[in-house]
Amino acid sequence: MGETRLPLIAEAPTTYEPLLSWVEEVAELTKPERIHWVDGSEAEYRQLTDELVIAGTLTRLNPELFPNSFAAFSDPADVARVEEQTFICSKNERDAGFTNNWMDPDAMKEKLTGLFDGSMRGRTMYVIPFVMGHLDAEDPKFGVEITDSAYVVASMRIMARIGSDVLKKIEETRAFFVPALHSVGAPLEEGQEDVAWPCNPEKWIVHFPEERSIWSYGSGYGGNALLGKKCYALRIASVMARDEGWLAEHMLILKLTSPENKVYNVAAAFPSACGKTNLALLDPTIEGWKVETLGDDISWMRFGKEGELRAVNPEAGLFGVAPGTGWGTNPNAMRAIAKGNSIFTNVALTDDGGVWWEGMTDEVPAHLTDWQGNDWTPAISSAAGGRPAAHPNSRFCTPIDQIDMLAPEYFAPNGVEISAILFGGRRKTTVPLVTQSRSWANGIFMGATLSSETTAAAAGAVGVVRRDPMAMLPFIGYDAGDYLNHWVRVSAKGNPARLPKIFLVNWFRRTRDGKFAWPGFGDNSRVLKWAIERIEGTADAVETPIGFVPTADSLDLTGLDMTEAEVEEAVRFDADEWHAELPGLEEWFARFGGSLPKSITAELEGLKSRLS
Ligand code: GDP
Ligand code: PGA
Ligand code: MN
Repeated sequence: MGETRLPLIAEAPTTYEPLLSWVEEVAELTKPERIHWVDGSEAEYRQLTDELVIAGTLTRLNPELFPNSFAAFSDPADVARVEEQTFICSKNERDAGFTNNWMDPDAMKEKLTGLFDGSMRGRTMYVIPFVMGHLDAEDPKFGVEITDSAYVVASMRIMARIGSDVLKKIEETRAFFVPALHSVGAPLEEGQEDVAWPCNPEKWIVHFPEERSIWSYGSGYGGNALLGKKCYALRIASVMARDEGWLAEHMLILKLTSPENKVYNVAAAFPSACGKTNLALLDPTIEGWKVETLGDDISWMRFGKEGELRAVNPEAGLFGVAPGTGWGTNPNAMRAIAKGNSIFTNVALTDDGGVWWEGMTDEVPAHLTDWQGNDWTPAISSAAGGRPAAHPNSRFCTPIDQIDMLAPEYFAPNGVEISAILFGGRRKTTVPLVTQSRSWANGIFMGATLSSETTAAAAGAVGVVRRDPMAMLPFIGYDAGDYLNHWVRVSAKGNPARLPKIFLVNWFRRTRDGKFAWPGFGDNSRVLKWAIERIEGTADAVETPIGFVPTADSLDLTGLDMTEAEVEEAVRFDADEWHAELPGLEEWFARFGGSLPKSITAELEGLKSRLS
């Protein structure tokens, strides 16, 4: 092929044929003005961000407040993941299952090929070699993202390990890489002026699970465009995990050390914008317990030689929900952000060149520029139909190693042993603060029944209760029943004595007058302590039809300003609410058809009979 290569390819820093021919093929289709091979260096980052500032995509923040940090403001129609336009294009429709949108892969390729034809005209095409997880892992998981967005390149540098070292290793080991193609879908004609946030009203986030590839069109937003994250590390990785016998999960990972210096690692699955980042960076309000962070969004887990479940965080950064992250609720995140080197998206700007969002500080600034560039004062937000200064799904993107409380084991390629798994969602009613499952199988059932009110992290209505199995509803890259079966099958590799204990939690239950029944945040350490004491057999519990809930005095409430009745409201099992929940559960499991594991059916029958 050598001689026939486009001149654009001649300068490629690699001779790895599978990569070269893919890049060439994409360049021929998308017709960019130039190709930039991303090396991941500081100098390159400086140049890209300088260019983005000139283009108006990024606003440089006051370096005295936020060094080396920038704010981006998206098109108002490009602020969240677009689940309606997210597809799993397996060869057979059955393999995508009822939780995914599906289209025939050939038909989809044809459609996308039409859209990508000339889609990078007038723009630079960036080639980003990346690895999810550790470069020196036993079986490193590589990807190459091609994108026409410099904002994506800058954000990927924070979120994943990218650049020359990765490219070298791909080439040396002749490794498979996931080809991940992204275009904002906004070609520039000769002389046409660019906009600050190019994107296309038409968006497609498409996965081809059999060939393990990703095509994303039309959006510049995080989960749609930083393809290493949700698209690869969850949707494609869940398919790899199914085929290779491991688990790719939407879970934070934290390391908990008891006053006796015993270490317990905890993984927790909560849907988007339901508290993963906050729990991962928790500041305990109880004496003697220490929390360190391992990951805040994604956990890849496999059983080790002794049948222990081990977890690694495949990411290198945080892409956290800004609103609600504040000095009062999450000082550890605030300290990491304050070190700089961050990209904020759709937050508000303060008059002195800093950023602000709802919940960052108790005191609300007297004047701001809101995320859409308008003047904003507190009166605007409190007026009827008032609007927040920051978009509810505004984000901070920050390197994970800026977290002071990062656990040293974050850098261990084989991860840590998990002692407990929490499943949690956002439910105003029904689900108690914490419930320990009756068994491992019952725990998988709890995960399969997980439900949550929708949030601003995905486009669409907010506050609607939906089932979200293992918090993976938008991220399971194959049939949801097969996914549950995979959980059952893979856990047979575990040493039964070392299987993690499973708990269902709900930080979002409301009291009769609509307030949160539990203070949450740092006080969630009290729930972690109870879970560990359950594992150790030292905490009391009440057996209920749904599992074990804390007794009035088994939760450590030292220093907590709550009456016994208030605590009871957070932890109580309510038989009426659970009776009301049953039809929804039956309807939910009926949708799985034949692919539901027998153990789940048995657990459902068990729950019904215990409730009756
Ligand atoms: P993630 O997307 O799952 O990582 O969720 P985040 O940790 O970013 O939290 C999403 C939103 O939920 C933010 O507005 C948080 O302030 C809020 N949140 C997180 N933990 C708690 C909690 O324990 N109680 C309450 N009431 N809100 C919480
Ligand atoms: P999250 O996902 O809401 O779980 O942090 C980020 C995203 O929207 O891609
Ligand atoms: Mn998060």
